[in-house]
Amino acid sequence: MIDLLPPPTFGPDRPMRLRASAPLRRLVRETRLDPASFVLPLFVKAGEGVRDEIASMPGVFQLSVDEAVREAERASALGVGGVLLFGIPAHKDAEGSAASDDSEAVQRAVRALKAEVPELAVITDVCLCEYTDHGHCGWLGTDGELELEASLPAHVAAAVSHARAGADLVAPSSMIDGVVGAVRAGLDAAGYPHVGIFSYAVKYASAFYGPFRDAADSAPVFGDRRTHQMDPANRREAVREAALDVAQGADLLMVKPAVATLDVIRDVRQAVPDRPLGAYHVSGEYAMLKAAAERGWIDERRAVLETLTSIRRAGADLVVTYYAAQAARWLVE
Ligand code: PBG
Repeated sequence: MIDLLPPPTFGPDRPMRLRASAPLRRLVRETRLDPASFVLPLFVKAGEGVRDEIASMPGVFQLSVDEAVREAERASALGVGGVLLFGIPAHKDAEGSAASDDSEAVQRAVRALKAEVPELAVITDVCLCEYTDHGHCGWLGTDGELELEASLPAHVAAAVSHARAGADLVAPSSMIDGVVGAVRAGLDAAGYPHVGIFSYAVKYASAFYGPFRDAADSAPVFGDRRTHQMDPANRREAVREAALDVAQGADLLMVKPAVATLDVIRDVRQAVPDRPLGAYHVSGEYAMLKAAAERGWIDERRAVLETLTSIRRAGADLVVTYYAAQAARWLVE
């Protein structure tokens, strides 16, 4: 039957020509990964020589400051561009007062990193959820609802404390209205007009933060974050949030999570062409890749590099990822 059919014809435009060999594919590749645009999150806490692995995030640890510096040195030697610090305080209270304590782990880690790994950009997460005993991102009223008037100054105090320690950028992550403007005004008033704001402008109330809350010990004791983080069903609202943060003084913007929001990353990239855009490849997105790889169900290296490429292709300039050092190693190999 087959030889009775007419011979197939191909037009002159044959995309396969440029895929025929590895050198050609490399030559015409549209999106390239560079470790300099990766940011590695680090969880820091009290002690010395502490490396407590997080059960739901194999390869990620809660670290004492000395160990965090070593981890950052390794990442930096591989070309990773920055670190994002989260703190696990020795003591939590209703106000999250440890967040602005100059002797807490984040502040000590910033000072140590600036002294020992000066080639790395140091970014700090500014939120209260790791520091409050109820696990919410701000102060609560008697009704259990977030109180903006009290929560904003507490965020500002944390940001100023990070700036005093020497942070290059502070990253407000609570999604509380007005937090970027409050932090900008607070930094300026405290004498830190040069410290930039990497705003979590578009952060969804996502199921993919589950493992992080184990890592940072920051799950809300009751309720959830849906009154301040965005509804994952909303796309247009992301552009509105991004514009608000730019108006309030954000220097860089972040969309989070990353794989579940590739369309939103593209929208924000187009709506705000003049600000660097980051995307946070979050804990649950990391854990899924790790779990499938451990079972031998996917090729981890290929799946991770493809994932990071897709985030960059969607329009992110920077990628915050727990795979930063590992991916950098794969890229230099
Ligand atoms: C703190 C914060 C969270 C994450 C980053 N900053 C948790 C949350 O909002 O519940 C999640 C990061 C991740 O899942 O990797 N507000």
